[in-house]
Amino acid sequence: MIQHGFNRIGVLGAGQMGSGIAQVCASSGIHVTLVDHAAAQLDKAKAGITASLTKLESKGLVDAAKANSHLHFATDLGDLAGADLVIEAVSEDEVLKTRLLTQLDKLLGAHAIIASNTSSIPITRLAAATSRPTQVIGMHFMNPVPLMKLVEVIPGMATSEATTGRILALCQALGKEVSRSQDYPGFVVNRILMPMINEAFNALMESVASAEDIDKGMRLGTNQPMGPLALADFIGLDTCLAIMNVLHDGLGDPRYRPSPLLKKYVEAGFLGRKSKRGVYAY
Ligand code: CAA
Repeated sequence: MIQHGFNRIGVLGAGQMGSGIAQVCASSGIHVTLVDHAAAQLDKAKAGITASLTKLESKGLVDAAKANSHLHFATDLGDLAGADLVIEAVSEDEVLKTRLLTQLDKLLGAHAIIASNTSSIPITRLAAATSRPTQVIGMHFMNPVPLMKLVEVIPGMATSEATTGRILALCQALGKEVSRSQDYPGFVVNRILMPMINEAFNALMESVASAEDIDKGMRLGTNQPMGPLALADFIGLDTCLAIMNVLHDGLGDPRYRPSPLLKKYVEAGFLGRKSKRGVYAY
C-alpha cells in the first residue's frame, strides 16, 4: 500500500474549511501549520478548533492535547516553506487562489504537493499557474470537516498517479472516505447539490411554499439532515452563488442559471449564518 509520507502539512486560509482541515490533520498525528494573513481570523479558528476538539474528546473520538501539540498557527506565508503538502483553503476566488498558488510554488521545496480545497474551480487551470502541475490536485473537504466523512479527490489533467496515490493514502489516514472524480465544473457533489439548493430559492421566489415548508419537505420527505435553504445558510449564500456561477459559465447550460432570489440575498449582504442573516435569522 502507498504511504502518504507527509510529515509537515501547511493549510492556507483559516476560515471554516481551513481550520477544520488543520484540525483533522493534527488529530491524526501530522504536524500542521495553519496560515492566515489576518491574526483575528486565526484567533477565531483557534477558538473553533478548541470547541470542536473538546466536543469530540467528550465522545472519546480524539485526544485533544495530542491534536493541539501538532497544531501551529502563523500569519506569514513563509512559515509554510518546509511543508511537504500545502492544502489551500482560501475563499472561492480564482484570482486569489491563482496568486497564492504561484507564491507557494516559488516558496515550497521541489518535492512538495499543492492541494486545493476549491469546491468548483478547475484544478487543471490552477495547476497550470504553477511550475509543478503534476503535483497539484483537488482535495475537496465537506463542511463541517471534522464530522463529514467525504473528501472529493480531483486529479487535474496533468496530475501524476504518484500524487493522486499519496493524497488517497492521506485521506485514508485521516479516516475519510473518497469520491474520486474528473476535473469538470462542480466535480460531483456540488454539480448535484447546488442545483438542488438553487431550485429551492426558485421555489421560494415563486412562493411555491414558505422557507420552512420547503426545508421541512426535503428534510422529512427525502431524509436530509438539513433542508436546502438551511444548508445554503450553513454553507454561505455567497459561496452557493459563486458555485452556481462556475457551473453556469463552465457548462454553459441555462439550467445552471443562478436564482435571482439567491443573487438578491447576496447583494443585500444576507450571507447566511456567518452574517447572522440569510434565508433565516440567527
Ligand atoms: N465539531 C465537533 N462536533 C460538532 C461540530 C464540529 N464542527 N458541529 C456539530 N457538532 C456536534 C454538535 O455539537 C452535536 O453534538 P451533540 O449531539 O453531542 O450535542 C452534534 O454534532 C450534532 O449537531 P447538531 O445537534 O448541531 O445538529 P445536527 O444533528 O443537525 O448535526 C450536522 C449537524 C452534522 C452539520 C448535520 O446537520 C449535517 O450533516 N448537515 C448537512 C451538512 C452538509 O451537507 N455538509 C456538506 C455541505 S456541502 C460542502 O461542504 C461542499 C461545498 O463545497 C459547499
